[in-house]
Amino acid sequence: RSSRICVIGSANVDLTFRTPRLPLPGETLAGRSLHQGMGGKGANQAVAAARLGAQVTFVARVGNDVFGDQAIHGYQADGIDTSFVQKDANLPTGTAAILVDDHAENCIIVVAGANDGLTATDIQAAASFIEQADLVLCQMETPIEASLAAMRIARAAGVTTVLTPAPVGCVTDELLELCDVCVPNMTEIAVLADCPQTTTKPADTERVGPSPEIQAPEIQAPEIPSREVQTLEGFDDAIGAAQRLRGRGVQQVVLTMGSRGALVLDDTGPTHLPAISVAAVDTTGAGDAFTAALAVSLADGLELRDAAGIARIVAAISVTRIGTQTSFPTSDELTPWISK
Ligand code: RIB
Ligand code: NA
Repeated sequence: RSSRICVIGSANVDLTFRTPRLPLPGETLAGRSLHQGMGGKGANQAVAAARLGAQVTFVARVGNDVFGDQAIHGYQADGIDTSFVQKDANLPTGTAAILVDDHAENCIIVVAGANDGLTATDIQAAASFIEQADLVLCQMETPIEASLAAMRIARAAGVTTVLTPAPVGCVTDELLELCDVCVPNMTEIAVLADCPQTTTKPADTERVGPSPEIQAPEIQAPEIPSREVQTLEGFDDAIGAAQRLRGRGVQQVVLTMGSRGALVLDDTGPTHLPAISVAAVDTTGAGDAFTAALAVSLADGLELRDAAGIARIVAAISVTRIGTQTSFPTSDELTPWISK
């Protein structure tokens, strides 16, 4: 039978603006094209998992609006069970404005809307689906109470839990302790592993030069944003950070490092999987595609590092195409890559 995966999380409409370069403050720039598709980290993971053949139940909130209808129809077209996708009476469907330049760099603004309305009670309503799933997937774009409720139910039922700690700001110790597999990127792990946060550039803000704290003598450990992990030294730092994240209660860590590949850390020690090199068009949602593929492979019974091997193929295919859900492959598309 297909593996059963329950995804709890956000649903957005993604408006992707292709532009030669990202605009400067106050600048008006002519874009190349506008692409509308469905996004949101939760929905992205649900769709990517369904395309890879999993039987997916998605627990989420959209607005009682046109975008909400489009989102639900889209999920159903991918064979997702939408019984627990509710329409919020007051809040609009979440939206993301995504700018992608000719170098595949992006900037994203998310307005959460109905995603903020997801409650622990919504999760309780889906409890039997969570308990019967092979694996539960959570992220942090919906209230933490919802993710906590889902992970508690899953843990009590012995269901594997996988967490994308993004946005990283609201992750708590309890959530990490409930987490079998945590899939951070380099920015997120720097925060979660308690690295010197003042020297870490968050993905969505600009660093404005050193603050007085950065010059304080106690903050001299190396920073670990992805671009720094090019040397062996930087790679050791990444392993150290993954070990510290395990120390916070996470069972296994799969660290995504963009073009540097992925680092798997479990009881057997660290394994580095180099990235598959492709011509990147749009990397938005590649992390979600990666995590979903990892989840499906784990639910199918693969070992963590083999699952990560499949996940990087799925992520690589997704970055060669525009958009998020529009760019996620089906399992058929993986065949030529796996036999390579
Ligand atoms: O992870 C990518 C997603 O983040 C986009 O689809 C956007 O909607 C935001 O939620
Ligand atoms: Na893409």
